[in-house]
Amino acid sequence: MKQSTIALAIWVVAATARVSYRGTQVLRIPVRDDNVDILNKAIADLELGTWQDARTIGRYADIVVHPGAQDELISRLGHNATKNAVMMHADLEAAIAEETKYDVYEAGTANSTWFNSFHPYADHMQFLQDVQAQHPDHVELVSSGLSLDGRNLTGLRIYGSGGGQVKRPAVVFHGTVHAREWIATMVVEYLAFQLAEAISQDDNTTMAFDKKTTYGNVAALLEKYDIYAFPIVNPDGFVYTQTTDRLWRKNRQTNENATMTSSPSTSTSTSTVSSTCVGRDINRNWPIAWAVDGGASIDPCAQDYRGGAQADAPETVALTSWLLATHAAQSIKLYVDYHAYGQLFMTPYGYTCEKMPTNNAELQDLATGASDAIYDVHGVYFQSGGICSMLYKSTGNSVDYVHDVVGVPYSFTSELRDMGQTGFVLPPEQIKPSCEEAFAGAVYLLKNIK
Ligand SMILES: *[C@@H]1O[C@H](CO)[C@@H](O)[C@H](O)[C@H]1NC(C)=O
Ligand SMILES: *[C@@H]1O[C@H](CO)[C@@H](O)[C@H](O)[C@H]1NC(C)=O
Ligand SMILES: *[C@@H]1O[C@H](CO)[C@@H](O)[C@H](O)[C@H]1NC(C)=O
Ligand SMILES: *[C@@H]1O[C@H](CO)[C@@H](O)[C@H](O)[C@H]1NC(C)=O
Ligand SMILES: [Zn+2]
Repeated sequence: MKQSTIALAIWVVAATARVSYRGTQVLRIPVRDDNVDILNKAIADLELGTWQDARTIGRYADIVVHPGAQDELISRLGHNATKNAVMMHADLEAAIAEETKYDVYEAGTANSTWFNSFHPYADHMQFLQDVQAQHPDHVELVSSGLSLDGRNLTGLRIYGSGGGQVKRPAVVFHGTVHAREWIATMVVEYLAFQLAEAISQDDNTTMAFDKKTTYGNVAALLEKYDIYAFPIVNPDGFVYTQTTDRLWRKNRQTNENATMTSSPSTSTSTSTVSSTCVGRDINRNWPIAWAVDGGASIDPCAQDYRGGAQADAPETVALTSWLLATHAAQSIKLYVDYHAYGQLFMTPYGYTCEKMPTNNAELQDLATGASDAIYDVHGVYFQSGGICSMLYKSTGNSVDYVHDVVGVPYSFTSELRDMGQTGFVLPPEQIKPSCEEAFAGAVYLLKNIK
């Protein structure tokens, strides 16, 4: 009795504390020379969130417009700017309600129906345990360390014959470093699930697709590589998107009296930054070109806040240590970090547009091949190319770090569906097709890397 009262009280608090996006619009507005300043001023003055900043002329700003700001934004932009705007969501809360109609998951039943809906964090952890339990000879639960709030950065290792004793060259898939990019969680789980199914049912046809005709012998790939799949490398942020604010991106680190080092090489120039804004962008915090200007924010309130010093987020520390140790132990060949949205398959570097990796030609061929393989599944086009040249400058990111510092030859990042029709709040019907095409891209890479 007492226990259920407590449980109910917690539920009520959590439910009422959740940010409502009732009546909130998400607008996609083309960024032009003549509106870029107006857009940025409106975003600042009206305190609008963005899914894509008004940054690059010729691209789009995707802006979250709360009900109180809608008339003002229209009047500031004028008729010309608004007539080309696309309404991504007329009522974001309604889209979130659809997205959070989670299917019931029964523990012990990891099967392909998992990919019909999104899921709560606890179910994700149960699903990973269940995939492991269903394939005990080929799957191991792993952790690459702890988050700030003490959650494991949980993953699966999927391996071929030898009972896990044989350590083959490794492949690492990361997802959901940005908490609100939920499709990335599902995609990385799908890669793990399908590979686990493939190794255990090599000659059977119980998979969600006909692996024999479409992909050839997928299980053979696991005789060549150990696969590590970490679906949620920012668990605190992910949980926060489910309990409190669906649009949260960063980790949950406070920034009160944080030490601010302007350059990692000069310990003299430290100061203190204090902000009530929470969170560091874990994908701007990696110890690679961290202090280079223009690829991250120094404002603790910004979505892409880089932190007070490089690698000062516990998640960054855990992930870098794990990657370095795993590379030393068994050599990592391939790394793919999954994000949303934009339909891109990208190569280093983010921190510079001038320099290219020494194996750039090979990386471009592989990225193009992966995009073609993705396209072949459902006719969905992913553009390929370098992060900085194709998108924008981004410093302190994992892909650059993994390539330059860890020394992994094949390092990629993919922005999954969509192209800005629905953005982060993707309809659940698109989960399975997104997973299927991403799997084709990943298998292409596994077959074509050296
Ligand atoms: C709006 O667009 C029309 C042509 O489409 C142009 O003549 C006019 O100058 C524009 N007005 C503003 C304020 O940009
Ligand atoms: C597949 O998983 C769902 C959700 O947990 C479960 O309800 C269903 O019984 C499972 N199907 C099979 C064949 O195990
Ligand atoms: C994290 O995972 C390890 C095993 O890798 C386990 O021993 C530990 O209890 C887990 N901690 C939490 C908080 O789940
Ligand atoms: C294929 O399925 C059959 C019947 O379910 C089973 O007996 C057999 O062990 C399976 N083969 C493999 C390689 O798992
Ligand atoms: Zn992202």
